[in-house]
Amino acid sequence: MRKFLLGIVTGLALAIVAVFVLGMGALMYVEAGHVDPRADIPPSSFEKKRAMGALDAALDRYAPQSKDPIQPTAPNLARAAKLYGTYCAKCHGAMNSSETAWRVRLYPPAPQFPKEPTDMEEFENFYVIKHGVRWTAMPAWSDQLSDQDIWGLVTYLNQMKKPGASMPRMSRSLNPSAEGTAEKGAR
Ligand code: HEC
Repeated sequence: MRKFLLGIVTGLALAIVAVFVLGMGALMYVEAGHVDPRADIPPSSFEKKRAMGALDAALDRYAPQSKDPIQPTAPNLARAAKLYGTYCAKCHGAMNSSETAWRVRLYPPAPQFPKEPTDMEEFENFYVIKHGVRWTAMPAWSDQLSDQDIWGLVTYLNQMKKPGASMPRMSRSLNPSAEGTAEKGAR
């Protein structure tokens, strides 16, 4: 019995040392500059899986499961469309154009919502929009936008999922900060 227990303890200790050595090895590999910093290549499937998995798990833990209070009424959607055009379309793509204005490649890339609607829960999107995502280009909007407006954007993004949903198109008049907007940039 003692031998058996000793075996288990030794096995566990070896496993812990192995995990530590592997982890340090990976860190040293990264720190020694073996990971190409370029952002104009698509993330590997390994990175995608790891990063998305980590984000999903963190959202499960941290995002309060609140309900979206904003109904998809025409005025609400129009207001959200305007905000989306001003603050989001540059990275996430405009409704009436398939490309982002900046035409920059972000790493990880920004999902192009008009083409690939979000599959996250409403409260998760709220949390991401309000607080941003560390180590990505997704900014925190808590200083710029009220909770009301963030929920409005969540409602707007949700509408994009619905096939044939009539979305207020972003036009110059809906988008006052026309400087380099998605619409303009897409020409
Ligand atoms: C400077 C570029 C940039 C701007 C501006 C920006 N985002 Fe993002 N956003 C990103 C990136 C990059 C990601 C991907 C983050 C990741 O991979 O975890 C992202 C992720 C998201 C997600 C999570 C989507 C998903 O399904 O994984 C939501 C929701 C979102 N953004 C909404 C918005 C809204 C709404 C605005 C405007 C208020 C906005 N973003 C403005 C770059 C941006």
